[in-house]
Amino acid sequence: MPQKRATDLIRPHLASVQTYQPVDPPEVLAARAGIPRESIVKLNGNENPYGPSPKAMEAVSEAELHIYPDPFQRRLRAALSDYTGLAPDNIIAGAGSDELIDLLFRLFIEPGDSILDCDPTFAMYAFCARVAGGELRLIQRGELFQIDLDAVRSAIDENTKIIFISSPNNPTGNLAAEDEVRALLDTGLIVVIDEAYFEFSGETVAPLVHEYDNLVVLRTMSKWAGLAGLRIGYGIMDSGLVDHIVDIKSPYNVNIAAEAAALASLDDRDYLLGNVQRIVEGRERMHDALTAMDGVKPWPSHGNYILCQMDCPERAQDMFDQLASRGIFVRKFGSDRLRDCFRVAIGTPSENAAFLNAVGEIAR
Ligand SMILES: Cc1ncc(COP(=O)(O)O)c(C=O)c1O
Repeated sequence: MPQKRATDLIRPHLASVQTYQPVDPPEVLAARAGIPRESIVKLNGNENPYGPSPKAMEAVSEAELHIYPDPFQRRLRAALSDYTGLAPDNIIAGAGSDELIDLLFRLFIEPGDSILDCDPTFAMYAFCARVAGGELRLIQRGELFQIDLDAVRSAIDENTKIIFISSPNNPTGNLAAEDEVRALLDTGLIVVIDEAYFEFSGETVAPLVHEYDNLVVLRTMSKWAGLAGLRIGYGIMDSGLVDHIVDIKSPYNVNIAAEAAALASLDDRDYLLGNVQRIVEGRERMHDALTAMDGVKPWPSHGNYILCQMDCPERAQDMFDQLASRGIFVRKFGSDRLRDCFRVAIGTPSENAAFLNAVGEIAR
């Protein structure tokens, strides 16, 4: 019998999945620009420019790394309960909210099921849909990037299981209104409201988990708490769904360093929320400065980033390339709708100034 190659044994729907387009790490960006690592301005990953709480760093250095973490996340869920005002039974943590997105696909989606994604949005939902073998239905957002409720409703059929909404939406910056979320929940599908940027907007639909057992709210410690590198996020949902996530997740999914850092961060929330406030102020100043420039249109944002639209795709590409050649990295997107746009994260005041100076010179 002719021997099969290992790759011939891969499940067919997975064989063609393309690698997720990630943001490159700083040393790779620096090498590409031919600039020392410490001189680059990294504004392409919506990371927190102020980093973690010093108390989180201390907690990581003291964490018992030789002990497995608690699979039931008792202390963490209690601390998140105190932070969110929701019961520990309604909360489950993951290795980043990315892991929770993946777990939701495992729980609900089998090949043939369909997923609704309001485009343009965070690429992870589409990526996980491909990995799960689900059928991805892209519903275009309206002119102001608002959710098109009628288009969502008419895309639903008997195979549709989940609607994903990022609010604030990454990369467009706008929020989903509570009445829109309620209208989506009334479809009876699982509605995932991804509030990765909640702390920068102050708006949440999390308390609706008491009214709707089909609501899942996702949050992360990556953005407001500066823990992107440790990978820790959490979901808020009906306790019955939490139990099922506990059943299927890998037992030690949140590592002990991430757990220690998250607990210390929640304890030091006033310090971290002070940094959030500085980022929000920086965002408003950056929005005003970009508005005053010719050729760049900044979209209003409730996150820690701004979507910038240029006159045409070529200008957007040129801006991206020229910024990169100066060691300033922003995010560009492949989709048709965003071909004339790039997204910039809010950095420290000096990073923001470097970005704005460069944009002013390049756009001139
Ligand atoms: C909307 C949205 N959801 C989730 C994530 C992923 O967060 P985490 O770092 O917790 O996996 C991001 C990261 O950029 C995001 O923009």
